[in-house]
Amino acid sequence: MDLNQAQEIPVYNRLGLTIVSGEGCTVTADDGRTFLDLYGGHATALLGYRHPKLIETLNHQANELFFQTNLVTVPVRAKAVQAVGALCQPLDRVFFVNSGAEANENALRLAFRLNPGRTKVVVLEGGFHGRTAAAASCTSNHKRWYALPRTPFDVVTAPWDQPDVLAHLIDSDVAAVIAEPVQGVAGARALSNEMLKTLAKRCKNTDAVWISDEVQCGLGRSGYPISGAAAGGMPDIVTLGKGIAGGFPCAAVVTSARVVADIPKGTLGTTFGGGPMATALVAAVLEEVLENNLIEHAANLHQQIQDTCKVGPIVDIQGAGLLVGMRTNVPANEVITALRENGILVGGSADPNVFRLMPPLTLTSDHVAQLAHALESM
Ligand SMILES: Cc1ncc(COP(=O)(O)O)c(C=O)c1O
Repeated sequence: MDLNQAQEIPVYNRLGLTIVSGEGCTVTADDGRTFLDLYGGHATALLGYRHPKLIETLNHQANELFFQTNLVTVPVRAKAVQAVGALCQPLDRVFFVNSGAEANENALRLAFRLNPGRTKVVVLEGGFHGRTAAAASCTSNHKRWYALPRTPFDVVTAPWDQPDVLAHLIDSDVAAVIAEPVQGVAGARALSNEMLKTLAKRCKNTDAVWISDEVQCGLGRSGYPISGAAAGGMPDIVTLGKGIAGGFPCAAVVTSARVVADIPKGTLGTTFGGGPMATALVAAVLEEVLENNLIEHAANLHQQIQDTCKVGPIVDIQGAGLLVGMRTNVPANEVITALRENGILVGGSADPNVFRLMPPLTLTSDHVAQLAHALESM
């Protein structure tokens, strides 16, 4: 069988690897080689691979109820809503969808509903929010709009780390500001406290809706339950995705009662979002994150990475928790390839001199030591 089928539309820059299984933080290729997966299956393997609780949950739910419509009450969905609300308190209103882009699409829709007549959305330089129409419009790179001819609303891009300019751009025509507290694709770069504070203050003063896109940095990965709240403010809406169901497709819009007060039926909707398989996993994943203090663990491991991995080709380390950007003194791709040859998978970024780590939150100190050793010997 041709595994790299010509029939599959070739939109990915494949790594030349065939992965057949995974266990913990490690994946195994078809030729028997194993890799420490610091790429985390694109940040989705929040608890690593073959996690016993997730496998048990999936098997149990598959036997109980594989699918049901959102028109009926499903106990596992109710449990997942509670679990997400508990993680994101005081934001406790939840709408489940299937992907990060879809979560952002719906968050923007909520913002325009709240601010009728306003036409602008402020985005940050370097931000990535997904590939559907509204999300792509907010994605700030050369692929912006992903081949669509125009945006559905006016988009204003704020430059990186210029709080005064950001403050000026958020005016009373702005329906929403969407930003990643730690920009993922841009190279795991965290917004400064000053930017977060300005965002919070200007949104409050102008009634613009602050959407914190935590699809990549959320769920404790950044070392905070809500990454946008790291500087003391509170976003109006948080979007979550990636590892929320441990690798099963799922994402969520999380907000407050105020934002969804009097929301007409049918404002949002989805066929598969909030399905029993995904939401059973959401509850199990969040239980594990909280019971095992994985949020604090992510912050601690970040410190270990800072303290021990600025070696070999690494000249600087950025990001937060276990969303880490490593700045290299040679093209990052060369280091990515060398690490792969050394049995370690990491991810690239939009910055040619930064590669990304977004490993399972179950990563250990020994894994960090393995990375430090591999970098040192380059
Ligand atoms: C911050 C952020 N937002 C949104 C998305 C889009 O998520 P999805 O690919 O699940 O639609 C991504 C995906 O990488 C992301 O990193």
